[in-house]
Amino acid sequence: MTEPNTILVETHGRVGLVRLNRPEAMNAINSQLIEELMSALEAFDSNSAIGAMVVTGNEKAFAAGADIKEMVDASAADMHARDHIAPFDRILKIRKPVIAAVSGWCLGGGSELALSCDMLIASETAKFGQPEINLGVIPGAGGTQRLTRAVGKTLAMEMVLNNRTLNAQEAVQFGIANHVVPAERYLEEALALAAELAARAPLALQAAKQMVNHAFESSLTDGLAEERRTFYDLFDTRDQKEGMRAFAEKRKAEWKGE
Ligand code: HXC
Repeated sequence: MTEPNTILVETHGRVGLVRLNRPEAMNAINSQLIEELMSALEAFDSNSAIGAMVVTGNEKAFAAGADIKEMVDASAADMHARDHIAPFDRILKIRKPVIAAVSGWCLGGGSELALSCDMLIASETAKFGQPEINLGVIPGAGGTQRLTRAVGKTLAMEMVLNNRTLNAQEAVQFGIANHVVPAERYLEEALALAAELAARAPLALQAAKQMVNHAFESSLTDGLAEERRTFYDLFDTRDQKEGMRAFAEKRKAEWKGE
């Protein structure tokens, strides 16, 4: 396998870290970057030494959107045929938690990528927006759908139709980010949160993530039924026995992921 050259991949204990690394282009997401990012996340997902992941950019930009220069001359037929956006969906299949650590610009496809993660830690410098309207297009990877579910219709309308940007405090206030932290600590805080998650019972963690995501895909009745089935299923895991016995015996549980 060839080494990626638009991302940097690191491990920190049980946490896998991917840094988007096109600083010369504000981490604009071209086809190579999205392919390399998704492959790195999938590799972490199937590595039992990793329990959670962090995706980050650099201080100036998480990512300033899809690479405009890559698509400027494409026709609609080209866009349908290339289907550049399809690889973005691969993040939805990742079973372990993924945290976005966002500093600086988080725009367009960059914001859509961050919103596809499970939690988001924002530096106080983070700025979120969907500026596609300025390019004569619309968001294409969830900016009209996932963003609307997160912030509600009226704010989504303002962001998507009129390029309203959100600062880090607003991102927390409107449900995009979990926490705002000082600029020098955003990555450290995201890695610490990921390490906490990575120390939890792996099968329960994956089931929990899957069920919260399921809430967006089903009716309440179906979602509640699926949740109950999943809750009962976890009683066939060793970790359920260990977790409940450890509670009764007043000791710390030791998770096996079985
Ligand atoms: C390609 C980009 C880029 C992008 C920045 N660059 N964003 N290249 N695609 N999305 C490049 C610039 O061309 C420039 O290259 C270099 O990065 C530095 O950017 P500057 O503009 O000089 O920096 P600054 O003045 O600090 O402004 C930062 C910025 C601005 C506000 C983030 O770059 C900007 O508005 N970028 C575009 C944001 C955007 O429209 N995103 C939506 C993209 S469409 P050179 O070679 O000149 O140094 C999209 C659709 C999603 O995301 C569809 C689903 C995936």
